[in-house]
Amino acid sequence: MFNPESFIEEVKPQILKEVREEKILAAISGGVDSTTAAVLMYKILGKQLLPIMIDTGFLRKDEARKVKDMLKDILPLQVVDKSEEFISALEGISDAEEKRKKFRDLFYSTLSAIAKENGIKYLVQGTIAADWVETQGGIKTQHNVLVQLGINTEETWGFKVIEPLADLYKDEVRALARYLGLPKEISERQPFPGPGLLIRVVGKLTREKLEIEREVNDVVENELKDMGYSQYFSVIIDSQKSLDNIISMEANVPVYVYNTRATGVKGDVRSYGKIASIPLIDDYEKVREIVQKITKYDVTHVGMIINDKKDGKYSIGIRAVLTQDFMTADFAKIEISKLQEIGEKIMEINKEIKEVFYDVTSKPPATIEYE
Ligand code: XMP
Repeated sequence: MFNPESFIEEVKPQILKEVREEKILAAISGGVDSTTAAVLMYKILGKQLLPIMIDTGFLRKDEARKVKDMLKDILPLQVVDKSEEFISALEGISDAEEKRKKFRDLFYSTLSAIAKENGIKYLVQGTIAADWVETQGGIKTQHNVLVQLGINTEETWGFKVIEPLADLYKDEVRALARYLGLPKEISERQPFPGPGLLIRVVGKLTREKLEIEREVNDVVENELKDMGYSQYFSVIIDSQKSLDNIISMEANVPVYVYNTRATGVKGDVRSYGKIASIPLIDDYEKVREIVQKITKYDVTHVGMIINDKKDGKYSIGIRAVLTQDFMTADFAKIEISKLQEIGEKIMEINKEIKEVFYDVTSKPPATIEYE
């Protein structure tokens, strides 16, 4: 059993020995990992720590304000607004890995500039075990995995990285967060990826898609909170798709395949496959059987259409999963009537929303995110 007290006793002398009197920068994303890492360091190093949150433009609705508010009695968090720089640099890019890599470079060069301005040579980040296991396995480039990939951060950005949570799994991080006195809204918060909504605007990034995704995700989070799901969010993709006759025959239902692709995991390696849609079927066991047939065909995510209309540029995917360690995950069997209720609210957000689907794929073969 993980014991937060002994964990802190173990890491504290190592951190003190390494950092000594130096100042250290902490970048908080609003997720549980980065916040816990920063608070742990603040408890150990006090004012030596400069905790900041970069508003990358890919944060959730009101995220910076909410996080600052949640932490107001714990940490003196400074929000640095870089949204315009990030969005204009990433606008128009479609490829998932290119987005992740570009985001990572921009993120760390921004941190590097802040560190230099403040004479800081260390950066703390909340990388946890699952992050680097998956990056090393080639499943995806987690934005925060640097050291394990052999990147010399001192040479590249001028700071050394400290990752106090690198050997912990999510439930251990949450236990540590509770022990450190973080509010429940943070310790029990669902994970949020560093590149944020950038990787939930699947395919080409445009400002219109990003703003719709921000609104829709807010509705999905509000509707599904407190239901015990490990992670729940929305994605937006371009709605063009075509009927795939071969897969339809195998699955015994009409299967459409979108032009946009999404990440999955097969065996231990990353795969990049199609997103497919099937009609609404009010029987999750049957849905599961159909999905098994479809995912044999290079399909990583399958969405079950909940609401649709004739026109519109975008499709919205609702994703809700149950998992212990985020390495594997099961989609949540949400009542269809509940999904339809959420779907109706989503359809009202913007006239360009053509349809809403519910992602009925587990990990593997899908990943939790789409990119
Ligand atoms: P996947 O999509 O790989 O996600 O099944 C597993 C978990 O990792 C989160 N995730 C990230 N977290 N930086 C992060 O801090 C990232 O780049 C990143 N990508 C995925 C994802 O939200 C899920 O909880």
